[in-house]
Amino acid sequence: MDKQILILRGDGIGPEIMDQAIRVLQTIGDTFGHSFHLTDGLIGGAAIDEAGTPLPEATIEKAKSSDAVLLGAVGGPKWDQNPSDLRPERGLLGIRKALDLYANLRPVKGFKTLTDASPLKREVIEGSDLLIVRELTGGLYFGRPSERREDGHVVVDTLHYTKTEMTRIIKKAFESAQLRSKKLTSVDKANVLESSKMWREIVEEESKNYPDVTVEHVLVDACAMKLITSPTAFDTIVTENMFGDILSDEASVLTGSLGMLPSASLSESGVGLYEPAHGSAPDIAGENIANPIAMILSTAMMLRHSFHLDAEATAIECAVEQAINNGYHTKDLQVSIGTCLSTTDMTNQIIKHIMKE
Ligand code: NAD
Ligand code: IPM
Ligand code: MN
Repeated sequence: MDKQILILRGDGIGPEIMDQAIRVLQTIGDTFGHSFHLTDGLIGGAAIDEAGTPLPEATIEKAKSSDAVLLGAVGGPKWDQNPSDLRPERGLLGIRKALDLYANLRPVKGFKTLTDASPLKREVIEGSDLLIVRELTGGLYFGRPSERREDGHVVVDTLHYTKTEMTRIIKKAFESAQLRSKKLTSVDKANVLESSKMWREIVEEESKNYPDVTVEHVLVDACAMKLITSPTAFDTIVTENMFGDILSDEASVLTGSLGMLPSASLSESGVGLYEPAHGSAPDIAGENIANPIAMILSTAMMLRHSFHLDAEATAIECAVEQAINNGYHTKDLQVSIGTCLSTTDMTNQIIKHIMKE
């Protein structure tokens, strides 16, 4: 198979973890006989520094003509005081919108060997395996107006959704639930928000088209609590943009580290973008200690969702699991046994297992 992939390294640990993902991808190419052609593009702070904008037009064009996009992470203190439209995060939001990546899939599955890496009790997290389906191109992140008014004393952000935007992500979640254990939890704030009331109505309406899926509604505040007190009660979770952002970082605690959580951002028919759920981790950038697993598992998601290379994706996932089962981990995982490795050495272990396949 011949595929064009746009590589967006971004900022902070973005370039470090991307280099590891590329090494893994090259190993998959060599082992399974595929050619992955990589092109670099600018996004985030790196793009601001080089091109004066967080999302150059050339990046969007390259993305649209690629078969998939891999993204590291954007942001950092260097650009934190920039005006809103010159922030690295704008680049990320911009590419999600430009490619209409409305469906963000964030699987949260802990590895048995790492159960004790989580601050939560073993008996609470054992067996937890869930998928957060997050709406990614609407809600508070994109609603207009979003501005500071009246001499800086009044601010407005707008939570805007159309029925069409809600329906497509809800359908996607039902379909995802059908491929898993057919249980869907819809998370909203329908006791307060008008948007959530409509969201809940659409979930009820759509549930008639998926009679094999059991649906429950949970308010977001209660969900935040239940996620860490009874995570095994969840399978597929669907929610709007900002709730999904917050709940997914929280859910990463089940796995022991935010550095373990991959994601896929999908559109209805166009190119998919794959990135870790975490950020650019400026506090550890440049030290070769970042956990590369979220980025590597995002690469596996790309192989599965964009290229339908199931065996290749599984090879990566199994190699990650084997490396972990052999006691290897990075510094972010708080485990007392095993061996703590650098970013590159952790990747070496994963690559070793792929080559043994
Ligand atoms: P963060 O996710 O970058 O980091 C939170 C904490 O988790 C930090 O202590 C960090 O060291 C740790 N961490 C994250 N990923 C890790 C990894 N792979 N290995 C080891 N440790 C890891 O969130 P933050 O500190 O709130 O934000 C930093 C910057 O990243 C901000 O500019 C923010 O806007 C940006 N951000 C970008 C994305 C993205 O590009 N998708 C996502 C979230 C945050
Ligand atoms: C994420 C990040 C982004 C988001 C930021 C950096 C805009 O936190 O991908 O989870 O909130 O979507
Ligand atoms: Mn986030």
